[in-house]
Amino acid sequence: MTERKFLRIFKKHNQHHILDHYKNLSPQKQNTFLQGLEGLDFDLIFALHKDFCHKQTLSRITQDIRPASIITIPTSSEEKAFKEKARTIGESLIRKEKIAALIVAGGQGSRLGFEGPKGTFPITPVEKKTLFQLFSESLQAMSMRYHTTIPLLIMTSIENHQDTLNFFESHNFFGFDRDSIHFFQQGMLPSITPDSKLLLRDETNLFMNPDGHGGSLKALYDSGLLTYLIEKGVSELFYCQIDNPLVRIADPVFLGYHIMMNADISTKVVRRINIKEKVGVYVSVNGRDTIIEYSDLSPEKMSALDDHGDILYWAGNTAIHVLGLPFIRRLTQRGFALPYHCAEKSVQAIGPNGKLTKTQCWKFETFVFDAISLTEKTCCMEVARNEEFSPVKNREGADSPETASRAMNNLYRGWLEETGMAIPPDTQIEISPLFALDKEELVSKLKGSRLDIEGDVYLEEK
Ligand code: UD1
Repeated sequence: MTERKFLRIFKKHNQHHILDHYKNLSPQKQNTFLQGLEGLDFDLIFALHKDFCHKQTLSRITQDIRPASIITIPTSSEEKAFKEKARTIGESLIRKEKIAALIVAGGQGSRLGFEGPKGTFPITPVEKKTLFQLFSESLQAMSMRYHTTIPLLIMTSIENHQDTLNFFESHNFFGFDRDSIHFFQQGMLPSITPDSKLLLRDETNLFMNPDGHGGSLKALYDSGLLTYLIEKGVSELFYCQIDNPLVRIADPVFLGYHIMMNADISTKVVRRINIKEKVGVYVSVNGRDTIIEYSDLSPEKMSALDDHGDILYWAGNTAIHVLGLPFIRRLTQRGFALPYHCAEKSVQAIGPNGKLTKTQCWKFETFVFDAISLTEKTCCMEVARNEEFSPVKNREGADSPETASRAMNNLYRGWLEETGMAIPPDTQIEISPLFALDKEELVSKLKGSRLDIEGDVYLEEK
């Protein structure tokens, strides 16, 4: 940003503490400071600040919230046939190279308390493979199964981009061709105090936060990757978060349902464990599908039960989606369409008094699932939690490395038991995606063979 523009914008928005700070920097440091402001939209930040000041006093618009229409886990023969039809369509899409996979991994992972990108966290029960390795192997196994190449896109943020790249480089990109794996960075937004003051991270940088996983759509467009994929003939993007090791990456059934329903965006949901579980809830609002974050849904709605005593709004967001690339283009090319959310956080930053202290600030971000209510062409599919959802969020307790590793172990145990094998209760089991991607593949590979189980079991491709 030029100095002239900086002075004009910061005067206009009464950021005199930053202007004073800037005046005291050496010319070289002033230059570094100005470089860091490149591309930031300050008018947006101050407009959002004003909006959210008002929102706190506005009453909520009346919303007609109902359970959404969802493809549940098939039980009847018709439903099973529908699922198989979806699988065939999805498989054909994969074979025709119409699919790419995106993992969003730009978050700060503060709840896990892990230094470094979350994807470098060791998670599998026996080999302690990292999340990045597991996802990479799963996608490669899918590519091999369908004799094709599914490109992998990884979204990072400025805070973990270089570490992520170094990690992949030091592992030879886990076997990916360098031109079929793409790393791109999401945007950052300046954080702001409730009384409208920008903060400094250090002498030459403003305090900022990643712009939310909705920023993945904007960054796909801004980086040119969206156009690149469309020109390659890719039409659908499989989307997931780095924190769920049970994700069935590029699941053909899911892709098939998405196509059969002619959807712009599709979502996988699981039944909420209880009324307190911290997941977004997939509902219909004023006739449109929407995900409402647990913290934004009223306690009455969160705890509402149906006539059988089951949770009425049962569909918990797994954050696994398929998005059509033309839809992403529509959301991004004429200004970014997703709405902003505001969260208050306590951070270590340099405030208007010039001292590094714990300061309350607001961070603005967008959520990818807000794209759902921007189209009528949606699809939602229920999946079994024990097969597809066990995220790593917290250091311990619910949604922790321990629960995720246990869920993987239980899943693999179930597959092995399906082959007729008896497995001692304490045995830890891990099956590499390159050995078998699912129960069916495992059963067909092990048909007629016997495993001598002594100690932990790890099955890998020889
Ligand atoms: C999220 C969903 C919730 C869903 C749950 C499933 C939101 C607001 N809520 O909760 O509805 O039920 O996952 O596990 O998303 N990320 C980025 N960049 C960012 C912010 C996040 O890449 O700027 C990535 C993180 O790396 C992480 C994921 O998005 O993998 C989740 O973000 P987080 O903000 O932690 O949401 P959750 O509370 O996990």
